[in-house]
Amino acid sequence: MGDQQAMLFIDTDPGVDDALAIMMAHEFGKVVGLGIAAGNVGLAHTTANALKLLDVIGSDAPVFRGAPHPFVRPALGAPHVHGADGFGDTGYLPSSRSAEAEHASLALLRLSHMHSGALTIVALGPLTNLALALSLDPALPTRIRRLVVMGGAVTGQGNTSASAEFNVGFDPEAAHVVYSRWGEFQLIDWELCMRHALPADRLESWLAHDGARPAFFAAISRKIRAFSRNQGRTGLVLADALAMAVALHPELVLASRCRSIGVELDGFLTRGATVVDWNGRGGQSPNALIVDAIDQQGFERMVAESLGLAEG
Ligand code: RIB
Ligand code: CA
Repeated sequence: MGDQQAMLFIDTDPGVDDALAIMMAHEFGKVVGLGIAAGNVGLAHTTANALKLLDVIGSDAPVFRGAPHPFVRPALGAPHVHGADGFGDTGYLPSSRSAEAEHASLALLRLSHMHSGALTIVALGPLTNLALALSLDPALPTRIRRLVVMGGAVTGQGNTSASAEFNVGFDPEAAHVVYSRWGEFQLIDWELCMRHALPADRLESWLAHDGARPAFFAAISRKIRAFSRNQGRTGLVLADALAMAVALHPELVLASRCRSIGVELDGFLTRGATVVDWNGRGGQSPNALIVDAIDQQGFERMVAESLGLAEG
């Protein structure tokens, strides 16, 4: 599958599902850098998690710290889902490697010139770093091959509030900047991810295999798997892994619709909600390629291979 190895810049807030996505990126693509966001947990933890994960994968991809806070209003992370440290509170031995000195947004701008026209940006966390880069250089999108974003809830079924999905809800102003100024991008929203959960029993069988990657992911995902069971779910919603599968193998997309999409910034009940103009009433030109369906088997095969299992 896939016509060529995607060259990736990943903006991420690891985060358990981010970790699986980053494993997939290394299995099927070429990672030129990781930009780290605050989100699931604070920036110190998300940065340490990224460095530790790359050690486990055996990757020397550079890690660039991004913004420690959302643009305007403070926001709560998701330690109740990912653990206080964002990686299941396993007490892992930290990496001896450090993040680069360069800010994630500046690194992205530099790499977009170095690899002009070749980079796919995969945004797996709050969009603060990407919005900062876009504000510094509005021409950034012209040098980027594809932008794939995990975020939003296109019919308002949120996960961090009644109507907001976490990545958008954590920094709605940043999401507004990217959604309104980037041009065309691909959107993998929360509701699609709910429809494409990984069957828990199948994932558990993969994690029982030998190898550093299944063992590490089994450890860091213990809490989120318990959280999912307590939610009464039979499948694990690993949103960032689904977004990464689309970034790496766009042929997995079975259906999508291009619409314009707004972000509510001021609603008492609806701040962070993504509002899709399904019938073109607002007159804005559609720019969000909203993915409606994915080849589930192809997605699961990619996850299994990224965990080190033989081609499934
Ligand atoms: O809503 C799911 C998203 O929020 C995922 O990216 C997860 O890692 C969290 O960042
Ligand atoms: Ca994430």
